[in-house]
Amino acid sequence: MSTAQDEIDFKADLTLQRLQPQLEAVWQTSQISDGKRHEFELRLKEHWRPLFALLFRLYHSRYDFFYHIEQVLITAAKAWAERPEALCKLDRHRINEPNWFQSEKISGGALYVDLFGDNLSKLRENVGYFKDLGLTYLHFMPLFAVRPGNNDGGYAISTYRSVDPRLGTIDDLRLLAADLREAGISLVLDFVFNHTSDDHEWAQLAQSGNREYQDFYYIYPDRTEPEKYERTLREIFPTVRRGNFTWHDGMQQWVWTTFNSFQWDLNYANPAVFRAMLDEMFFIANTGIDILRLDAVAFIWKQMGTSCENLPEAHILIQAFNRLARIATPGLLFKSEAIVHPDDVVKYISEEECQISYNPTLMALLWESLATRKVNLLTQTLKHRYKLPPNTAWVNYLRCHDDIGWTFDNADAEAIGINAYNHRNFLNEFYTGQFPGSFARGVPFQENFETGDMRISGTMASLAGLEQAIEEDDDEKKKIAISRMLLLHGVSLSIGGIPLLYLGEEWGMLNDYDFVKDPAKAGDSRWIHRPKMQWEYLDELDDHIGTENGSIRKKIYRSTQKLIALRKSLPALAGQDMELIATANDHILGYVRLHDGNRLIVLANFSEETQEIDGNKLRTAGLGRFFQDMIEDKTYATSEKLVLAPYQILWLNRV
Ligand code: GLC
Ligand code: GLC
Repeated sequence: MSTAQDEIDFKADLTLQRLQPQLEAVWQTSQISDGKRHEFELRLKEHWRPLFALLFRLYHSRYDFFYHIEQVLITAAKAWAERPEALCKLDRHRINEPNWFQSEKISGGALYVDLFGDNLSKLRENVGYFKDLGLTYLHFMPLFAVRPGNNDGGYAISTYRSVDPRLGTIDDLRLLAADLREAGISLVLDFVFNHTSDDHEWAQLAQSGNREYQDFYYIYPDRTEPEKYERTLREIFPTVRRGNFTWHDGMQQWVWTTFNSFQWDLNYANPAVFRAMLDEMFFIANTGIDILRLDAVAFIWKQMGTSCENLPEAHILIQAFNRLARIATPGLLFKSEAIVHPDDVVKYISEEECQISYNPTLMALLWESLATRKVNLLTQTLKHRYKLPPNTAWVNYLRCHDDIGWTFDNADAEAIGINAYNHRNFLNEFYTGQFPGSFARGVPFQENFETGDMRISGTMASLAGLEQAIEEDDDEKKKIAISRMLLLHGVSLSIGGIPLLYLGEEWGMLNDYDFVKDPAKAGDSRWIHRPKMQWEYLDELDDHIGTENGSIRKKIYRSTQKLIALRKSLPALAGQDMELIATANDHILGYVRLHDGNRLIVLANFSEETQEIDGNKLRTAGLGRFFQDMIEDKTYATSEKLVLAPYQILWLNRV
């Protein structure tokens, strides 16, 4: 052991020893059982040294470091003492089975409480809906109290301690979480920890001149510091406001606001902020949350002269939160929301940091493949970017509440002769429907006229051609659009990781152009793909009804449901093990899924033409001569060429 390590361990042990009386005091006031207390102490023993080392790296030079570390420990002990028994039970189970989220049985969905079910208690009546669709993981978009007016879809939080009154109460949340647990559905909520709303209590105290709370944010008297920072910062919402700082009239000062002007970035260089957010994190977790989606992880640490994105300290912070979760809420997982360069995305993913992560690169490249009808950039990327560390998983999605950004790596593109800059322009033109022959009906998001940057908004169905097909009332085009959607689902559900549906996709919901009528939404085109659930669609599942569009919806719903059920029946789809197959056809994506001696071959045709692949390729990848497509229940022999219909996807099992 190095002496430096030895030195820090010594400091950690001595600190813990000094803090014993404080810990004792928590146990005394909370009156928890000896057994429960013992569990905490065992976990503390395991994680204290690494936790201390992380916090020491960030905060040792602060004059009040010891005070804050004491508060951190007390906060963790209280969280465990207050943790409801049902959750502690789940904790024990998950400590025994840390890979539970890698199962093929897992399938996710994301939704807005108000847009999907009006409020939390109404949502309780819809648990059957999720079960019917086959979901075992639900992400509710932010549901905490928010500022009046524009609240960035719930991401401008006024307090983490109460639910937006329009949606219900914390008790409603607890009840719903319990119902979901009962139904075998894990609940995911956001941990919006990069910023608070400008009307959060801390921000209000700061505004009233309280120095302790001004230190919770990045506040500057004039433009000197902001200008120095801005030399190396990217603009995230350039159409909202230029730059990254907002002038506050009341305080007569500048505030760091990476996103909207009313979202104030928290100053994690101050350990008081870490401690305060830890308390909020435990509070949220203890309402019955299985997974926290760590929002905007890339931005949580700032350093002059850098992009202030993905800094090493951001990782240390998350690792510290993670250690504390292991100690006080051990069943809790973290999901990373890093919509950044693929090299950076993967750095957040490990057992010690975020166990699961959005896979924005796969998402963007699946759309890229649909536009080009070629899978060369996708395979070039997957080749060296799909593997993850043990006990982690990708969350694979096709659309979410946010825009699509073309976050592939320029070198990956150049390696196969694609000019990244031109290609992004092409993709933007294609998905806004400008490119001749495009089937997509997306709209621009955050177009930056200076840099030419743009991202894309639009629902899955509208981007995949269904909106155009319905408008043109073209049955052939409708069929093709549906095949494109099922192709994407077929990949997302089989490639390895947790598949995540953005609810509404199961009905092929189209863009909602009416968002412009609401002044609080009109300036943000992401609302185009946040339509309200239409419960009357369910009537169309009735066998006797079959209107034109109704039958489309029924087909999309039933096929999606069937694919989810099929995934759950195939043990080869557990875990993350995926090997690409060289299909020798630019339009066909191929891979083998392997798990526990089980094997499934997936072949997917990304073009609207029939495509062929040599049967021999299937024989060598699948180690057999006869295969059954689990989706259409058809048998294939490797002695012949395999023919894939336009946009067909095959899930092939050896017979
Ligand atoms: C996240 C959310 C996005 C929000 C932003 C600011 O990236 O997904 O919707 O605008 O954070 O909170
Ligand atoms: C954040 C936002 C997302 C945006 C991205 C910018 O992750 O949620 O909307 O595209 O930052 O790179």
